[in-house]
Amino acid sequence: MHIASVVVSKFCFLFSLAFCGLLLLLIPALQPPARQVDLPQPKPQMRATQAGPSHHTRVPAVSIHARETDTAIGLKGSSAGQGGSIKTEVTRNDKWDVDSKRGLERWAPPGRKDGGISGFRSHDLLELKDIFIAVKTTKKYHKSRLELLIQTWVSQAKEQTYMFTDGEDKQMQMRTGANIINTNCSAAHTRQALCCKMSVEYDKFIESQKKWFCHVDDDNYVILPSLLRVLSSYHHTQDVYLGRPSLDHPIEAAERVKSDGSVSVKFWFATGGAGFCISRGLALKMSPWASLGNFISTAEKIRLPDDCTIGYIIEALLEVALTHTHLFHSHLENLQKLPPDSVLEQVTLSYGGFENRRNVVSIAGGFSLAEDPTRFKTVHCLLYPDTDWCPKLKLRKKN
Ligand SMILES: *[C@@H]1O[C@H](CO)[C@@H](O)[C@H](O)[C@H]1NC(C)=O
Repeated sequence: MHIASVVVSKFCFLFSLAFCGLLLLLIPALQPPARQVDLPQPKPQMRATQAGPSHHTRVPAVSIHARETDTAIGLKGSSAGQGGSIKTEVTRNDKWDVDSKRGLERWAPPGRKDGGISGFRSHDLLELKDIFIAVKTTKKYHKSRLELLIQTWVSQAKEQTYMFTDGEDKQMQMRTGANIINTNCSAAHTRQALCCKMSVEYDKFIESQKKWFCHVDDDNYVILPSLLRVLSSYHHTQDVYLGRPSLDHPIEAAERVKSDGSVSVKFWFATGGAGFCISRGLALKMSPWASLGNFISTAEKIRLPDDCTIGYIIEALLEVALTHTHLFHSHLENLQKLPPDSVLEQVTLSYGGFENRRNVVSIAGGFSLAEDPTRFKTVHCLLYPDTDWCPKLKLRKKN
């Protein structure tokens, strides 16, 4: 018993000694790894996005994704036939990820857009130079319609207004420089030709890096201060599609992009003839169906005109609602009905064509109806009385 207890206590003593020694050895050995565990946390994420042995900065990751985008678009463009619904879906998801990873834009992720934006909304002042204005025209209207716009409102927004036409016009190019764009689209007033122009407009806007895309026709007067005021109440990273609905009910069309056309979709669209605006945030989301010629194939699938196709992409595919406004006006309305004191508060105006010459806004000013049949010059001189060709009303009255 004695011997046994001595052996046990000896064993215990040696064991505790060994244990203490082990602890002493382990303490310094444990400390540095504990610090390292904190440090490399961002690393696994970076490796996941890089997907390769490269240990450079984040730049290679971005370029890899950019190339993936190009491939996706290339493939889609070349397979732009019927029944590409599955491909469209796949591309849609790919593009979504790719675009948000590219970091080219500062749009808010879908779930967070409202909370994140309202905070800096008030001190993010919108300027006229932030708005890209696309004027759709055709060569035969350069002299009669475009000339009037260049003389009036376009002169106040020269840098950011682009005129999309379908023929070479050296004289017009001399005056407007790079702001007149020959789309090389057909001059016919067909769905295909109009969609072709819209497709070029969209791509030019994306390239421009501006905050808002506004499309108007060559018979629209844009009241720039009103446009700026209206767009200032939104943020370009929000999903905003603003315009006048052309009908009092949504349009119904066969769904041929997401399904085989056996089901129909209902959606609102802003009439192109009154002009409409799209925020950059929303325009970027339209990319899978609108960029680099995809707009033409989308329009072909649903067999609708350009402005309807815009509405289809936004309302039916992206599920973003059109913000209805009555400040945009087309020649299809009765423009004489607009109260004269509200004319300058509108965003766009128009005038009746050959068939309805008297359909113009009723506004009095320096020009008679014979001198200014469209009333655009009169409106312009009320907005910008210092323009050199505007009649000096006050002086005349005094004399
Ligand atoms: C139209 O064609 C001309 C000549 O080929 C070219 O320089 C121009 O970039 C084209 N325009 C567009 C918008 O692609």
